[in-house]
Amino acid sequence: VFGVRCLVLSGGRGTRLRPLTFSLAKQLVPVANRPILGWVLDRVAEVGVRDVGVVVAPDTGWAVREFVGDGGEWGFRVEYIVQEPLGLAHAVKVARRFLGDDDFLMCLGDNLLGSSIRGFVDRFEGEGLDGLILLKEVEDPRRFGVAVLDGEGRVVRLVEKPSEPPSNLALVGVYVFSRRVHEAVDRIRPSWRGELEITDAIQEMINMGCRVGAEVLDSWWIDTGKKDDVLTANAVVLDEYVVRDVRGEVVGSRVEGRVRVEEGARVVDSVVRGPCVIGRGCVVENSFIGPYTSVGDGSRIVNSSVEYCVIMEGSVVENVERLEESLVGRNARVARRGGRGVVRLHVGDYSEVEV
Ligand code: TTP
Repeated sequence: VFGVRCLVLSGGRGTRLRPLTFSLAKQLVPVANRPILGWVLDRVAEVGVRDVGVVVAPDTGWAVREFVGDGGEWGFRVEYIVQEPLGLAHAVKVARRFLGDDDFLMCLGDNLLGSSIRGFVDRFEGEGLDGLILLKEVEDPRRFGVAVLDGEGRVVRLVEKPSEPPSNLALVGVYVFSRRVHEAVDRIRPSWRGELEITDAIQEMINMGCRVGAEVLDSWWIDTGKKDDVLTANAVVLDEYVVRDVRGEVVGSRVEGRVRVEEGARVVDSVVRGPCVIGRGCVVENSFIGPYTSVGDGSRIVNSSVEYCVIMEGSVVENVERLEESLVGRNARVARRGGRGVVRLHVGDYSEVEV
């Protein structure tokens, strides 16, 4: 069992997921009707840590606390650390008292992985490293931190969001550090975007002569920074975890494949094709719910066709011929009224509508 501690980063600004993130921590956006952070904490729990520090932002932290609580669901203890969103390395700095001089695992609260990280953490301990980073081969590394390795798999160099990537190995948001990371964090300066970057801290560790190893992940990895990533994560998680479990009422409908219909939901005169989940108390009427769709608790889908979507709780989709690849927040309403070609909108700041 790994030492003791883990730091989970659940703060940040989430600007790329506006408008949802005006009122919600992005780690709480649901995939398969469960906050992303829940799936992340499952991975943390598998490693066997006993103490988890959850870093939260001042404005959205309360909701993260409400979801994670005392950590009992996962069997670890939780301490909350409030941080202004000034970078991942800044989060490490602010968590210094919680971390003490222990080795620790650090995970981003919005990064999902297809496999356990237990072996990864064991390797850090076995090899007596100061840092271990997880990498994934990606097609377009320009939006990520990118690593260059030497012949023995040691990390030689890191670059944040390079315009000309020196490799296709992107940094996955999972790291293990010894206390030497704190020295490095104290030495770096904010980047051009005003943040203390974890890539700079790791580069500094390398410059200091620390031993930093890397491992390439062979399962999937999804960084849920933007709308399309959330939809992908939803599809992958539905595909992997949903089993057929129909508890709600199904009347005059066809429910095909791996579909979860929660208690109190009603599916009437509709076709539902898995993998998908329909939350508690939902009403689906005269509609088609296609694969890779999650419908949050208490939503209503009426006279519509919905596919490859995340519809959050309490929302209404009505008379919409075909809604696909869409992310709809809580208590929202998407409806057709009036003639063809007529569009009436009441859209929040930074929203995106494609018609
Ligand atoms: P990012 O996605 O890099 O940053 P962000 O959340 O501010 O989003 P955006 O770029 O869209 O504005 O953050 C990665 C993870 O780390 C995410 O789960 C949020 C968390 N985080 C913190 O906890 N503290 C921070 O200071 C930052 C920047 C991020």
